Amino acid sequence: MLRYRLMITALAICLSACGGDAAPGAPSGTSPAGGQPQPSKKAENPVAAAKRLRPADPQLAQTYQRTCYNCHATGAVNAPLTGNAEAWAPRLEKGMSTLLKSTTDGFRGMPPKGLCFDCSEAEFRELILFMTNQTGQPDSNNDSQD
Ligand code: HEC
Repeated sequence: MLRYRLMITALAICLSACGGDAAPGAPSGTSPAGGQPQPSKKAENPVAAAKRLRPADPQLAQTYQRTCYNCHATGAVNAPLTGNAEAWAPRLEKGMSTLLKSTTDGFRGMPPKGLCFDCSEAEFRELILFMTNQTGQPDSNNDSQD
C-alpha cells in the first residue's frame, strides 16, 4: 500500500511540477496597418493662380499681359500677386487714389506707370481693380442664374 501512495504522490508532484505544459498564450500583435491618407490638401501655388487670371475685357487683358502681368503674375520681383487677397490687403487700405499714384509715379520696386506708357488713368484704375480682385473674379462668385 505504501508503494501505491508513493506512486500517487510522485504522480501528483510530477503533474504539478513538470506537467505544466500550458502554452504561454502569445498574443501576436497584429496591428492593422491602416494607411489613412492625410488630409493635407495643398493650396494652389499662388503664382499659378495669378497666372491664370485675366481681365474680362479683351483690350484690357492685352494691356495687362503686356505690362503688369510680367511682374504681378510671376512673383519674380516680389510684386503683389494678381488676385491674391492676402498680398493686396495692406495696400488696399491705402485707398485707390494712393494706389493710382503709386502706379503712375512708381513705388519702390514698382516702375512708373507699371511700364505701360500708353495707359490712361482709367485703365490703371481698371487694372488695379482687377489685380486686387475687386471686380468679381469667377472663383468666389455665386452666379446662380434661373
Ligand atoms: C517691373 C515689374 C512691375 C510691373 C511691370 C508692374 N508692377 Fe506693380 N508693382 C511691382 C512691385 C515690385 C510692387 C511692390 C512694390 C513694393 O511695395 O515694394 C508693385 C506694386 C504695385 C501696386 C501697389 C502700390 C502700393 O502703393 O502699394 C500697384 C497698385 C501696382 N503695382 C500696379 C501695377 C499696374 C497697374 C501695373 C501694370 C500697368 C503694374 N503694377 C506693373 C512691380 C511691377
